[in-house]
Amino acid sequence: MSDIERAEEAHGQPGTTLAKPAGGVPDRFDNPGLPEHRHRMGDTDPKAARRAERQVAVMLVLSMIGSIGIVVSIIAIKYNGDFDRISWSTKAIGLSMFLSLFALGVGAVHWAKTLMPDDERIDYRHRQRGTEAEREEAVGLLKEGAAEAGLGRRPLIRNTLVGALVLFPLPAVFFFRDTGPLPGNDLSTTMWEGGMHLVKDPEGGRIRAADVSLGSVVHVMPEGIEDAESVLNEKAKSAVLVMRLDEGLLTEKSAEWGVDGIVAYSKICTHMGCPVALYEQQTHHLLCPCHQSTFDLTQDCKVIFGPAKRPLPQLPITVDDEGYLVAERGFYEAVGPSFWERG
Ligand code: FES
Repeated sequence: MSDIERAEEAHGQPGTTLAKPAGGVPDRFDNPGLPEHRHRMGDTDPKAARRAERQVAVMLVLSMIGSIGIVVSIIAIKYNGDFDRISWSTKAIGLSMFLSLFALGVGAVHWAKTLMPDDERIDYRHRQRGTEAEREEAVGLLKEGAAEAGLGRRPLIRNTLVGALVLFPLPAVFFFRDTGPLPGNDLSTTMWEGGMHLVKDPEGGRIRAADVSLGSVVHVMPEGIEDAESVLNEKAKSAVLVMRLDEGLLTEKSAEWGVDGIVAYSKICTHMGCPVALYEQQTHHLLCPCHQSTFDLTQDCKVIFGPAKRPLPQLPITVDDEGYLVAERGFYEAVGPSFWERG
């Protein structure tokens, strides 16, 4: 018995009027049956079916070209210090990815709409788990569907589909490779080291200890940062604030790592890495404008407010023979926000 016959037995023949209660709305309405089935061009015209097959193949080939385009874009357009290249690389990868996904999707939809079987079936609700006979029938239907997809009879689609699906995950390999190299201990270290002069940021120029007045704040970078291999990355880690306080206000350790009340602390917020750019001279507080973390200079830059969890690291400084401020050594700990290896 077919699906439709079973359905009609259970729900009434098309056009059957069911009993109505006197003067009321019927319990159930007429079964309207199925509208007349309209065949697609490919069902009746072999030429149209072949044309649809070629169209599907073209879309799958375009998808392959898109996948290869992603790989070529990643390899060919490398960042070489020119920001325009990042822009071109992003555009090329985006367009290739669009072509790869769009063509694959259009090809699949076109295949299903023009060449896959076009039977109309009724499937009424039933228990979640079917009987053994129904389960066997379902397996049979799946096998039938696989056979009807015609992959054996349509080698052009089969081969191009295999090509498209094999190439599709390939760009992921290059994406992941392109995220390297691993950072190593780059996140834990800065370019600061003993004997390195402190220079003003951004104007440059060494800083004489005698020129740092009480209550002042100086934005500082390590001398020679412009020659670093990755200037922006180094600047993002090495920025420092130098302030002069009455030495009696500082903790013992803070005063010891400074010079005559001049202390240097990392400018990179330990919450999420914003520059801690505001200094309240009266309260001796450093404020991060992003989420208002507040660090107290008189308590070794301990967090007294806000979401930051760690004090700002202090840079030990001293003066050279000519009275200029120099780092005594690098930071003792990683600057900036916490990360996975730091805990
Ligand atoms: Fe400074 Fe969030 S980044 S408080």
